[in-house]
Amino acid sequence: MEKIIIDTDIGIDDAFALRYGALTQELIGITTVSGNVTADMATRNAKLFCKHYGLDIPVCKGASRGLTIEPTPPITEVHGSDGMGGCYDNPFDAVTEMNAVEFLLKTVKEHPREITVVAIGPLTNIALCLNLRPEFAHEVKELVIMGGAFGTKGHTGNMSNFAEFNIWKDPDAADQVFRSPIRMTVLPLDVTYEVLLTGGEVASTGDSFLKDISRCYLEFTLKDEGYYGMAVHDALTIEYLLHPECFDVIEKPVRVSCAGFTYGQTLIPQSAMPIPDDNFRGLPLRKICVGVDTQRVKEHLLNTLKL
Ligand code: BDR
Ligand code: CA
Repeated sequence: MEKIIIDTDIGIDDAFALRYGALTQELIGITTVSGNVTADMATRNAKLFCKHYGLDIPVCKGASRGLTIEPTPPITEVHGSDGMGGCYDNPFDAVTEMNAVEFLLKTVKEHPREITVVAIGPLTNIALCLNLRPEFAHEVKELVIMGGAFGTKGHTGNMSNFAEFNIWKDPDAADQVFRSPIRMTVLPLDVTYEVLLTGGEVASTGDSFLKDISRCYLEFTLKDEGYYGMAVHDALTIEYLLHPECFDVIEKPVRVSCAGFTYGQTLIPQSAMPIPDDNFRGLPLRKICVGVDTQRVKEHLLNTLKL
C-alpha cells in the first residue's frame, strides 16, 4: 500500500480512480486542477466525493488555468453539467484551507521519497511544484500519470489525431514535467482505451454513486461511439500501483509538442538510426505502459469496487 496524493480534474473516470485509490492505498489528500471541469467545480466535486465515502482528508484547490493558455469550457457532454454526471445536489463551496501546490510541496517535503503523486488531470500543479521547488522532483517517490498517447493499436489521441486530453489541456506544463528529473510512469490511451466497462459491469459493482454519475458518460459513448460502455482511463493509475505485472512497459524519454498541428502530442525517439537529437539529449527514461491484460485489470477493478 502506497501513501498517495491524487491530483485530479474530477470528472467521472477520475471518481473511479479516487474510489479505487481510497480502497486500496493510503490516500492522504486530493488536489484539484482545471481540466474536465473548472478548478472550482473539481474542488466542489472532490468535497462531495469525500462526504459520500466518509473520507476525512484534505482537499486543496489548484490551478484554474494552464501555464500559458486560457482555460477551455468544461466538457459537460461527457461528464455532465457539474463534471459528476449532474445527478447530485452539491452543497459545497470551492474554498480550501491550503492551495494544491502548497499542500503538495509541504506534504512531500515532510515525507521525502514516501509519497506517490497520482496525477489524473492536466499537469499544471505538478509543473508549478517543480518550478517553485526543484527539490520536489527528488522528494516525490514517484509520479504516476494518466496522459498521452503513443499509437499502440491506433490509440493516437482523443482531442486530435495526435493529442490526449490531459496533455492537450496544458502541453507546456506536461513538457516541463517530462523534462524534469522526477521519477515517472505514464498510463497513456494505449492502455486506457483497452479497458472498457459496460453499463452492466458498472452496475454490477453495486456502487450506486459510481453508477449514477456514469449514466451520462455511458449515454455519450452510446450516441457518439455506438456502444454502452466507458473507458475508466484514470483508474488504471491505481491498477498500475497494485498490479504493475498487468502492463507491458517500454522505457523512453518523452517530450510534448507545444505548437502546430501536432499540438499536445507526446513524442518519443523512434528512429532506428543513431540520429543525434538535442530534443531528447540527457532526458530521463519514463516508464510508458503500452500493453495491458484487459481481463485481469477489469477483474481487479470490479472486484474491489464491489467491496
Ligand atoms: C483523460 O481526460 C479526461 O477527460 C479523463 O478524466 C482522463 O483523465 C483521458 O484522456
Ligand atoms: Ca481526469
